[in-house]
Amino acid sequence: MTDGSQFDSLADLYVDWSELPFRQHLEFPSVLGLVGPVDGLRVLDLGCGSGVYSRKLAKAGATTVVGLDESAGMLEYALRREAEEKLGITYISGALPAELRESFDLVLAVYVLPYARDYSQLLTLCQAAAEALRPGQRLLTLPIHPAVHTDPEYYSRYGMQIITSTPLADAVPVGLNLRFGRYDAHVIPYYWTAATLERALTEAGFTSITWHLHRTADSGDVDAEFVQPYLDKPHAAIIEAIKAPRQA
Ligand SMILES: C[S@@+](CC[C@H](N)C(=O)[O-])C[C@H]1O[C@@H](n2cnc3c(N)ncnc32)[C@H](O)[C@@H]1O
Repeated sequence: MTDGSQFDSLADLYVDWSELPFRQHLEFPSVLGLVGPVDGLRVLDLGCGSGVYSRKLAKAGATTVVGLDESAGMLEYALRREAEEKLGITYISGALPAELRESFDLVLAVYVLPYARDYSQLLTLCQAAAEALRPGQRLLTLPIHPAVHTDPEYYSRYGMQIITSTPLADAVPVGLNLRFGRYDAHVIPYYWTAATLERALTEAGFTSITWHLHRTADSGDVDAEFVQPYLDKPHAAIIEAIKAPRQA
């Protein structure tokens, strides 16, 4: 398993980070735009953390939302919110129960693959996503962008500092400082090259791998000066991968 404990005390931070313009104007429109209509969808939010996406998808009308995470602190927060809001989300820790295998139309894994510390963990995460999906259905996942900017301050306006060491190569630890408002936290994601990400996805049974660009919301007042540097050099990539359809 990866190291979920580094997130145990970060639920409030991730919830408040979700309110920042970076997530509101760049990440959410990009990811939710690719998710598309959720009515009737069965979704697994893999590495759901505090449940930010799980709640969004349940509120938007997904039929089934399951959030899975290995961090006790994150799940505690998500479960507390679910007890208050009763959106019908199921949260689980550990492996996906056998009865839920091949039952999902979409697996969302936002900022989860970077917490694989070696290729075997990366493959295990991709396999967990593949096992959850019905054949022909898709995974949307956001690893560290293979072409991430290496100036630590480049992303500071988005509430983070990213400290890379060179040369960037598979499984190189990256320092991620989450600095905004009252928060100043440090986590360690890992860098993966595009070739290795694609290799792990393919080995796990995904085909038709597509790299998507970030976008902003269609409407609303988006500050071009704020979003453009991110659009030019996003810190995360958005990958869509389709689980191979069942052979006839
Ligand atoms: C950066 S947080 C992102 C949380 C959420 N997806 C979001 O977008 O706010 C990464 C989460 O992935 C979880 N995670 C990392 N590796 C995992 C694994 N192998 N299985 C389950 N959860 C994992 C961590 O515990 C953490 O909550």
